[in-house]
Amino acid sequence: MSHIRGRFEKDADKRAESYTASIRYDWCLYPHDIAGSIAHARMLARQGIISKQDADTIIGGLNSIKEEIEQGDFDFKPELEDIHMNIEARLIEKVGEVGGKLHTARSRNDQVALDMRLFAREAISQTVSALHTLQQALVTLAESNVEVVIPGYTHLQRAQPVLLAHHLLAYFEMLERDIERFKCCRQRTDVLPLGSGALAGVAHNIDREFLAKELGFDQVSRNSIDAVSDRDFLIEYQSAASICIMHLSRLAEEIVLWSSAEFDFIEVDDAYATGSSIMPQKKNPDVAELARGKTGRIYGNLMSLLTMMKGIPLAYVRDMQEDKEAFFDTVDTLLATLEVFAGMISTLRVKPENTGRAVQHGYLLATDLADYLVKKGEPFRSAHDIVARLVSYAARQEKALNELKLSEYREFSPRFDEDVLAITVESSLAARDNFGGTAPKRVEQALTEARKTLRGGP
Ligand code: ARG
Repeated sequence: MSHIRGRFEKDADKRAESYTASIRYDWCLYPHDIAGSIAHARMLARQGIISKQDADTIIGGLNSIKEEIEQGDFDFKPELEDIHMNIEARLIEKVGEVGGKLHTARSRNDQVALDMRLFAREAISQTVSALHTLQQALVTLAESNVEVVIPGYTHLQRAQPVLLAHHLLAYFEMLERDIERFKCCRQRTDVLPLGSGALAGVAHNIDREFLAKELGFDQVSRNSIDAVSDRDFLIEYQSAASICIMHLSRLAEEIVLWSSAEFDFIEVDDAYATGSSIMPQKKNPDVAELARGKTGRIYGNLMSLLTMMKGIPLAYVRDMQEDKEAFFDTVDTLLATLEVFAGMISTLRVKPENTGRAVQHGYLLATDLADYLVKKGEPFRSAHDIVARLVSYAARQEKALNELKLSEYREFSPRFDEDVLAITVESSLAARDNFGGTAPKRVEQALTEARKTLRGGP
């Protein structure tokens, strides 16, 4: 029987006990729970609320419990509900009655809020550094294929030639914004809730500034009711995670497409692909597919937290225990996806012969032809029309644009001159010489900038 059932006459129903217990998944909060308790015990002693000797005994006990857990020697008990009660009960078992002093001036409500903030803060740092590693892999892939040209697509139809590096740097930018979102979320997570008690504050002379310093918090929460009832820092993480996995899912989709025989632009390394159990010729991009698939569960976790929080009154209510599985799952899923992606991207093989061939077909230089006519004085709309007819003529002849003769060009507009034959993939790329464009020298600058950003660290 749990030692907080003092006022009850009956033991808990077994099903009710297992229904309410969270130890199966919240045990992973233990390092944070113990760090929070050690800081709390130190503060209690400094303030003369418990003796220095009692604090030392408590801290010694907590440290040895940590070791037990790390060694796998700790017996987690569902009848003790959660990680907080499991650790406290074990403490009392180990050090005796004095262990019961640890919970002075504290409630499980501010304790669990603290643990979740510490956990989230660590998760954010890991996420940001995993994003940084993936960005590095993207930049390295871009740098080692800096001359590779691919068709850029709109509507998944070949549109204009772009550098592969430019395309990859688009993902670098998305991930950069993801990093910013997580860092923003860290600022709001970095607030100490301990000292809020059950909801109203505590009736002891505690020192919250000291606690904040001990636990490395930037700020101290300003309202005790808010501090124990709010979980928006978790929702913010989940929402940043949802946007981030959406980006990864788009990248995944391109990896799936590009490694198909239809595109054949890239080959996923054997280490990141799987075979088929029936078709021996197959090499499947399962890592990318699973990342795309796992997007659903990360969105789902966001929805479950938003929904769980939307109708609950202030302050703490037990519904909020449901924040954990969803949050832990999102962190695990996102970190695993980021890590495996970094490996998959850094071992990806690009097939420049195939991307080069794809650029030659599909009339990707049509816009350049229209721009050419515009520079010769033709209004853009009619230039567009002329080139559209020219392209359909070439298609009927089964010819590429560079296979047409000047006389053929001239049938569509007298503005075409010899220099039209100088329009090539290279000239098309070089012409997009605006900040943010795909001209090789712009992309080179962008790569230099990206490297600079990366040197700044995660
Ligand atoms: N396991 C609980 C949770 O995760 C800890 C807080 C319990 N507080 C309470 N008053 N029952 O929310």
